[in-house]
Amino acid sequence: MNIKDSVILITGGSSGLGKETAKLLIEMGGKVAITGRDKSKLDTVAVDIGAFPIHADVSSDDDILRTYSDVISHFGKLDVLINNAGTGVHENLENLSRDDFEYIFQINVFGAAMMSKHAAEIFKKHNGGTIVNIGSTSGLKGYEAGSVYSASKFALRGLTQCMQAELRCHNIRVILVNPSYVPTAFGSKDRSPRAEEDNKLSSTEIAHTIVSSLTMDDRGMIPEVSIWATNPW
Ligand SMILES: NC(=O)c1ccc[n+]([C@@H]2O[C@H](COP(=O)([O-])OP(=O)(O)OC[C@H]3O[C@@H](n4cnc5c(N)ncnc54)[C@H](OP(=O)(O)O)[C@@H]3O)[C@@H](O)[C@H]2O)c1
Repeated sequence: MNIKDSVILITGGSSGLGKETAKLLIEMGGKVAITGRDKSKLDTVAVDIGAFPIHADVSSDDDILRTYSDVISHFGKLDVLINNAGTGVHENLENLSRDDFEYIFQINVFGAAMMSKHAAEIFKKHNGGTIVNIGSTSGLKGYEAGSVYSASKFALRGLTQCMQAELRCHNIRVILVNPSYVPTAFGSKDRSPRAEEDNKLSSTEIAHTIVSSLTMDDRGMIPEVSIWATNPW
């Protein structure tokens, strides 16, 4: 697809990977809407990078409906949904409650599922479109203290494969992007961004991967891609 003049909706575009991806797509001529829960951070970032802000939480069905009505009334169409909003808790199972599982799954799995359901309805009418799910290498292999987060990203991976099976015949591409560790605000208690580190991945590599998978001609689809730092130790 050609990014210029395409309309791209990124959930959680006010920070980290979503923000960097929004910035790159806007530099390429894309029209980008970003969502987030912290309104003042969202509005500041939107002005900085030239995005359209939608104050919305992916765990709320009302917010999801409003997100789509805002995108369509502002831009008149939608070409790409990037399900990037996500959060994590890292604790051993014995320290976790049902609420911890419900909180993380509401955002990382149910939020992405409900956002995709509405995008798929729009894309089917136009016989095309792309959904990018931001998974994680935590969705490829479990690890200590990963019970909630890793399980949520395994679930997102399963959801992605089902969406691919259902939507491919409608010319809708569904792409799973699995970043490894990137220093961002992810998981930080005060939500402040972490500093980049020379040997670790940065948001730029993830944005580059997402944009590369989008810009391939629509006749081709990358089902899943993982990004690792070459030598993070
Ligand atoms: N950083 C990593 O190491 C890493 C590795 C693999 C995968 N990932 C995945 O990459 C994605 C982005 O993570 P990041 O590192 O960029 O984290 P981040 O800097 O914390 O950014 C997360 C973004 O998601 C938004 N968000 C969180 N919950 C939301 C909700 N319920 N509704 C709407 N927006 C919500 C945040 O906005 P507010 O602050 O306003 O809520 C923020 O814009 C996540 O899905 C994460 O699981 C990250």
